[in-house]
Amino acid sequence: MGVAVAWCVVKSADLLAEAARRRTFAIISHPDAGKTTLTEKFLLNAGAVVTAGSVKAKAGGRSATSDWMELEQTRGISITSAAMQFEYRDHMFNLLDTPGHKDFSEDTYRVLAAVDAVVMVLDAAKGIEPQTLKLFEVCRTRNLPVITFLNKFDRPSRDPLELLDEIETQIRLRPTPATWPVGDGEDFLGVIDRRRNVFSRFTRTARGATMAPEELMSFEQAAAIGGSAWKRAMDGCDLLEAVGADVDLESFLAGSSTPVYAGSALTDFGVKHLLDAVVELVPPPPPRPDRDGVGRPVDAGTSAFVFKVQANMDKSHRDRLAFARICSGHFERGMTMTIARTGRPFATKYASTVFGAERSTVEEAFPGDVVGFVNATDLRIGDTLYDGDPVTFPGLPSFAPELFTGARPLDTGRSKQFRRGLEVLEEEGVVQVLRDPDMGDSSLVLAAVGQLQFEVFAHRLEAEFNAPVELTGSPYQAIRATDAASAERLKTIGGIRILRRGDGATVALFENKYRLQRLLADEPELTLTPLNAEFS
Ligand code: G4P
Repeated sequence: MGVAVAWCVVKSADLLAEAARRRTFAIISHPDAGKTTLTEKFLLNAGAVVTAGSVKAKAGGRSATSDWMELEQTRGISITSAAMQFEYRDHMFNLLDTPGHKDFSEDTYRVLAAVDAVVMVLDAAKGIEPQTLKLFEVCRTRNLPVITFLNKFDRPSRDPLELLDEIETQIRLRPTPATWPVGDGEDFLGVIDRRRNVFSRFTRTARGATMAPEELMSFEQAAAIGGSAWKRAMDGCDLLEAVGADVDLESFLAGSSTPVYAGSALTDFGVKHLLDAVVELVPPPPPRPDRDGVGRPVDAGTSAFVFKVQANMDKSHRDRLAFARICSGHFERGMTMTIARTGRPFATKYASTVFGAERSTVEEAFPGDVVGFVNATDLRIGDTLYDGDPVTFPGLPSFAPELFTGARPLDTGRSKQFRRGLEVLEEEGVVQVLRDPDMGDSSLVLAAVGQLQFEVFAHRLEAEFNAPVELTGSPYQAIRATDAASAERLKTIGGIRILRRGDGATVALFENKYRLQRLLADEPELTLTPLNAEFS
């Protein structure tokens, strides 16, 4: 029996059922708000790991064996994004990891293009922090539904009503609490489930390594044991009731309200409520709009788009992984798909799933799932793959860079390796490489949204291609796309440099933002387009 016969085995009804049970999402947070801890507790509650701590342990193991992870280890951050898949209540969760370090990188944005919703984690003692705000803005531009988790109530926390206020005023989302904390710090007893009118009382376990035992109580029972913490919590709930702050699916899906959950990832209080929310509120994979805005039905021919490319994740492998999200159809390893950009066939023999640092061969996948293609040198970020009816999904936005630096090879004897490294890292989207057409690779400008991208670039060029690079800094403050006619005029003005990007676009770099603003006002006929109108 050929593989082709096996593809037909998944009937449309089964395919739709598989898609309907997928939940593909990411967790976003300011560093230290508790994203990693919450991820561990998700895995623990779903039965995917037996004790919390294994995700970090895995990350540690990975750092020891992989060379460019040295950078990750010394900075104490997570640079790679992986997808984790686990089952909970008959649903298949795809949790895409967003890098959690304080520097931005384009990776984070790209991951958010591949999910159907996000869980935003806030530290209940701190509220909204700068990075949460920035990440949230990306969610807003994509209309992503956001569930909020107020974390760390096992520590002295701010008044939860004050936190709701902050969500409303700073990110302009109407908060609708689904659970409400009873007490904080040592007195944190559990959470009220506002929709079911029960109190979940939790008991701490040693170091929070195992699931916290939960006891369900009526309000009368809770009042008898809860003391002043219970009374305060009920006062809060009465207020919420009075203003009608109830979970509303429609406005959540439209991105205008956010269901709020309270708890403590460390002690596993309220985490199961949040997992249930992912099942009940996060939408299953929708038809993904193609370039013309027409949604491809999830039971159409298999299709996927590449949202991330990453090389040399592990020294022992020395390979390159292209991560694709399945958008429609039944994916089976071995099937031949078409790359929309080139029209060329793509054999999917080397498909794998990635769980932390570990990977295993994937035999099949459904809409919402993430598949890693090993050594798929033909694939680029933003590529569409399809089988059956042709489709092209909109490319992933590249982001308006805010940081620039000059770069030049330190060892001119290794220019071949330098060029090869540039090619690989540019294609992976590690940084944007800008060239002066007259000077080639000897004088480059790199552009990025986060400083860390430059560091990763320099580290990898040296570690993987043995081609050390010197980052020389740059006086530029702003960038715009332009055209040949405008470029001629711009060349006559001081403090502006005209360069070419890898995709052929002509760009103008400005030493001074104000000069750019003056030009926009004084010479409106010049073409000076923001690089990414969507996010700039
Ligand atoms: P991140 O991925 O968002 O950066 O945060 P992470 O989970 O690594 O958590 C950052 C710190 O906050 C960790 O402490 C973690 O234990 C702690 N934390 C997370 N959730 C809670 C919570 O609900 N309550 C309390 N009290 N602490 C929490 P650390 O000391 O930096 O690391 P570790 O030594 O505990 O691993």
